[in-house]
Amino acid sequence: MFLNVNPTLLNIFFGCLTVWLIKYLFNFIYRLKKLPPGPWGLPFVGYLPFLKKDAYIQITELGKKYGPVFSFKCGQFDVVVINDALAIEEAFRNDHLLARPNTSFIPGFKRDQSLVEMSGEPWKQQRRVALTILRKVGFGKKTLEDKVKQEINMFIDSLKSANGAEVDFGEVIKLSVANNISILLFGHRFEYDDPLASEMCRSVKHLVENASYFSKFVFMPSITFLVSLASQFSSELNKITSSSEELEKKVTIEVGKHREKKATHEIEDYIDGFLEEMDKQKDPDSSFNMNTLRRNTADFYAAGADTTTLVLNFIMLYLITYPEYQQKIRDEIKQTIGFERQPDYADRNSMHLTMAFVYESLRMSTIAPLNVHRRASQDTQVMNYSIPKDAIVIFNFWAVHRDPKLWNDPYSFKPERFLNEDGTLVAKQPNLMSFSGGKRMCPGANLALMELFLYLVSILQNFRVSIPEGYEISNEVKYALNRMVKKTMKVHFRDWKDN
Ligand code: HEM
Repeated sequence: MFLNVNPTLLNIFFGCLTVWLIKYLFNFIYRLKKLPPGPWGLPFVGYLPFLKKDAYIQITELGKKYGPVFSFKCGQFDVVVINDALAIEEAFRNDHLLARPNTSFIPGFKRDQSLVEMSGEPWKQQRRVALTILRKVGFGKKTLEDKVKQEINMFIDSLKSANGAEVDFGEVIKLSVANNISILLFGHRFEYDDPLASEMCRSVKHLVENASYFSKFVFMPSITFLVSLASQFSSELNKITSSSEELEKKVTIEVGKHREKKATHEIEDYIDGFLEEMDKQKDPDSSFNMNTLRRNTADFYAAGADTTTLVLNFIMLYLITYPEYQQKIRDEIKQTIGFERQPDYADRNSMHLTMAFVYESLRMSTIAPLNVHRRASQDTQVMNYSIPKDAIVIFNFWAVHRDPKLWNDPYSFKPERFLNEDGTLVAKQPNLMSFSGGKRMCPGANLALMELFLYLVSILQNFRVSIPEGYEISNEVKYALNRMVKKTMKVHFRDWKDN
């Protein structure tokens, strides 16, 4: 058959193939020389097929072999992992490591990015405006704290109405925590039996449980297009895209209501503030448009509701696994605020063991063990290791939170590690990195800490918690985009007097 092919065409074909091979080899060697050391992978897919479900544990082990900064090829990208506290501190200060990957976290469709996914100038502008609006409507203010306290009151009442019967903690806590972010974004909470609230929470849950940190769709974007054409073959892709679309549909309903009331109202929430900013913009290509508003609101909702809920589920697991801390925190409540007054966030200053318990829960749970993916926007360096432009950069918080050089007996749950000898809270904890750091640090960190403290104290002020007889405590954890308690927890909330 070859004999029939025009020899000139054959020459062109082999010529092109040779040029491509030389270029491939040249890039390969150039890349190897430039990148930090690391494990080999396969051609085209790199190390991606070798990554297991609990990739953060595997990556931490690789760090022990290859050092504080190492690299591997993952699908179409070079990945650089920063695996050590000092190196991560340096990376936090590096302005060339603030970008996000160019591919969407929710792959499959080309669509506008949210501020969580943006890079460069648009990200800076969106983040600055978002924080200005959120401060105006409550971030860091007593008014927001009062609303969170009202929400917690209703949550506690709903637990009391269970009269000691078992409660699915994951189900009830997520609706309550989502209400705190709804107040900031939409200006109101939802009743616990409002189907819209349940549907939004369900969409976020599906999204977070079905997405994966090392998704082939994120790391091999060129196959995403092909797979999305035959999307009936990919349930993973289908579940992610449909959950994300569902959530955005609900957000669109809220945006519609805000546009109707806009002319007559003050700025009461994030959507109001964004609509006002849109009116001010003169640039037709500005990122302040309706699509970005929908995408930002949906991602703020997911980032704000789900993360805090995940940590509160771990807190419940630790309270049940280590019941002695229920008594110790209860004693601290007795000595400080008593059982009649609802806690304020300012009470944390006299409740050292309670805060130590919150910090230890954040360290042990490390719900974002590999951070949210970052990207090098230029060639740069960390600890003299080169990081080439467009490499995906991972900050391994799991390795830091389990580093025996930083924490004595790091796999054990010991809130006392955050206390001085006199029982007061250790002032600074630079090695606790749950909220990341630097200019792209989690903007909701203070709100989240306030929620964790207020929910914990309010629950223990009212109830002793336990699992129903016959049930076993399960420490199993699932890792998708975040780490989460695997099994939903049935919990008894009993009056302290009844025990
Ligand atoms: C315990 C709860 C939380 C944890 C552990 C957590 C953790 C994180 C982490 C690790 C990041 C990635 C930062 C980076 O790229 O370096 C992040 C980003 C983000 N978080 Fe949180 N977060 C929590 C709660 C919240 C809350 C309550 C909100 C909303 C008010 C929120 C909104 C966001 C947003 C919008 C981003 C993206 C920021 C950006 O890309 O500029 N988070 N969070």
